[in-house]
Amino acid sequence: MVGDNIDPGIDSRVREGVVGGPVGHIPVMLKEVLSALQPASNKLIVDGTFGAGGYSRAMLEKGACVFAIDRDPDAQVTGKKFLQEYDGKFQFHDGEFGQMDEICKKAEIDFVDGVVLDIGVSSMQIDEAERGFSFQNDGPLDMRMGQSGLSAGDVVNGAEGKDLTRIIGILGEERHAARVSRAIVACRDKKPITRTLELAQLVEKTLGRKFSDRIHPATRTFQALRIFVNRELEQLANGLFAAERILKASGRLVVVTFHSLEDRIVKRFFADRCGQKGGSRHLPQIEALQPCFRQERSGPVKAGIKEAELNPRARSAKLRWAIRTDAAVRDANLDLFGSEVSLSLSGRI
Ligand SMILES: C[S@@+](CC[C@H](N)C(=O)[O-])C[C@H]1O[C@@H](n2cnc3c(N)ncnc32)[C@H](O)[C@@H]1O
Repeated sequence: MVGDNIDPGIDSRVREGVVGGPVGHIPVMLKEVLSALQPASNKLIVDGTFGAGGYSRAMLEKGACVFAIDRDPDAQVTGKKFLQEYDGKFQFHDGEFGQMDEICKKAEIDFVDGVVLDIGVSSMQIDEAERGFSFQNDGPLDMRMGQSGLSAGDVVNGAEGKDLTRIIGILGEERHAARVSRAIVACRDKKPITRTLELAQLVEKTLGRKFSDRIHPATRTFQALRIFVNRELEQLANGLFAAERILKASGRLVVVTFHSLEDRIVKRFFADRCGQKGGSRHLPQIEALQPCFRQERSGPVKAGIKEAELNPRARSAKLRWAIRTDAAVRDANLDLFGSEVSLSLSGRI
């Protein structure tokens, strides 16, 4: 990563592929993440989205201990290398960050000093055609980060048309979701859609493509299927609640998101948790809830111009962070967020 204000030491090691594992995944806004998290010796930090270990390695190099989680079995390979390299300072757990507090408790960790989440897919997942995330490389229509459960192909070929319209419209923010959904249903009635390029070409044929279009017409449909298959928004919301439970007072929660649906969840969570709640003069017996987080800056931090030029993933990244207070944990109620967080199928696959 070559950002505007990136730590030069880390920067050169990233380019050599030392920080962040394979050169394939460049950690986004690393300098800004470190500045918000403040990793240091005697601090224990949860990296809930280990990926290629870019953030983890940078935190370990600053002397912190890291408890890493990733749901992708492929991330374990890098995790094992880290275990050898950072013996005693690093742990890796295969699982979902939405349950990070339970995972930590099983490892006899009650509280931590920091939590970082770098939401979305890694470059390795996108680049590996067989994982089926990319509409540019042909592969099976899969998209499962955890490599188990319903695949994108199961949803495309088995969901009811109206569910496909909701998924593509809400999670892909695709204005023409109904047209895409009708085209999918008409096509799969003849033969199942099993390959990424097949779906990409079908969407392109349905929506057309102008020379001036900045993105491929299938981008939104692929985004919707990926988010749905991996329950990404629900995981994010539950990850924020879990971080609230596991952070000690003065602990830091740092989240990097890549599109508006994700950023909205983080923004709403912090707005809610940084505010005072409950209590009223009519019900004096109910005590007001004290803010359980405080923010030093309310708006998002964005990547610098140079980083955005060099790393396309950084262009849409938004970083938000807050510091845990000593106030009690609040209810983990998904109603805080929009209904898109727990979108489900109405019919059977
Ligand atoms: C953008 S990458 C993280 C890259 C990492 N920060 C680095 O510097 O190498 C996101 C990673 O999070 C993982 N992931 C996504 N959602 C997850 C979840 N709910 N629980 C655990 N891991 C998740 C993905 O499998 C992927 O490896």
